Amino acid sequence: MYERLISQLAHVELLTPKPQESLNFFTQVMGLEETERAGQSVYLRCWGDYFHHSVVLTEAPATGLGHAGWRTEGPEQLERAVARLQGSGMGQGWDDSGRGHGRAYRYRGPGGHQHEIFWDVDRYQAPPEKRSSFPARPQRPPARGVAPRQLDHVTLATKDTYADALWYRDTLSYRFTEYTGLDDHPDTIVFAMVTTNEKSHDLGLGLDLSGIPGRLHHLAFWVDAVEDVLRAADTVMEAGGHIEFGPGRHGMGEQTYLYFREPGGIRLEINSGGYRVYQPDWEPVKWVPAQGSNTMYRNLSMPDSMMEAFPPAEAAAIPEPELAGLANPWAARREA
Ligand SMILES: [Fe+2]
Ligand SMILES: [Fe+2]
Repeated sequence: MYERLISQLAHVELLTPKPQESLNFFTQVMGLEETERAGQSVYLRCWGDYFHHSVVLTEAPATGLGHAGWRTEGPEQLERAVARLQGSGMGQGWDDSGRGHGRAYRYRGPGGHQHEIFWDVDRYQAPPEKRSSFPARPQRPPARGVAPRQLDHVTLATKDTYADALWYRDTLSYRFTEYTGLDDHPDTIVFAMVTTNEKSHDLGLGLDLSGIPGRLHHLAFWVDAVEDVLRAADTVMEAGGHIEFGPGRHGMGEQTYLYFREPGGIRLEINSGGYRVYQPDWEPVKWVPAQGSNTMYRNLSMPDSMMEAFPPAEAAAIPEPELAGLANPWAARREA
């Protein structure tokens, strides 16, 4: 029987070699709020995020994923999830050092990505000047930058997207919602999505042929309306940034999307819309790109740069540009 163990993606730690430029971008262009600084890290949150932080920016030699933090459905579900992780052989042990939440159990997923799960959280308390007049809001929305309401999902790069999706389903009871194969090789699964809640995904899994474990593809934030995605594109352009892909609409999940990079190089996405999943016995839906899995408007092309993941693949067996040609099924399609 399906038992929900994880309730939501609570935070993601991003590594940046340009900490000050990244921080300026996150606070001024993205419009996130700073909660705290400690060591080489700055803790940030969107105005509608209820916990201490939803993003951690940590200085590091290269861009990449620090870790993803997930809250469980309750204290007993934390214990049950830990038992399953220990049984899977992927568990690493308890960690008491996290800021803004109680003790966390850390593990590496099958693609080599660092995760932690926890139940106890510190909730954000707005100072008087940031308090909202609406009692359900953790604070007033700032009139600054993109100002997404909340963190939406993280997409990881991994060598076996389908096997990873099954692992998250079977080990931690994520729901496996959708996946897409190549048009000509439908059994080569290039993208898979799993979710802990009613969204189409809060964890995306994109194909990574670099041979480097634990890479990040992008981090996504939620805005309330499709028009806000267009406004985000305008805001990023006016700040001197450039749009990598979009605005457009994904077939998988049916979200309106927009992708761009922050100064440290990490790809960010702004999302709105999409279907809702309330069925515990949802069966995974299979696509091929020609059906519009990546872009509903089918004949739009995705740039090869969208196949890059972080840290960059200089150290990989196959150089990233060649990798992009191999791994971008949408590019192959438009040549056909
Ligand atoms: Fe954490
Ligand atoms: Fe995404």
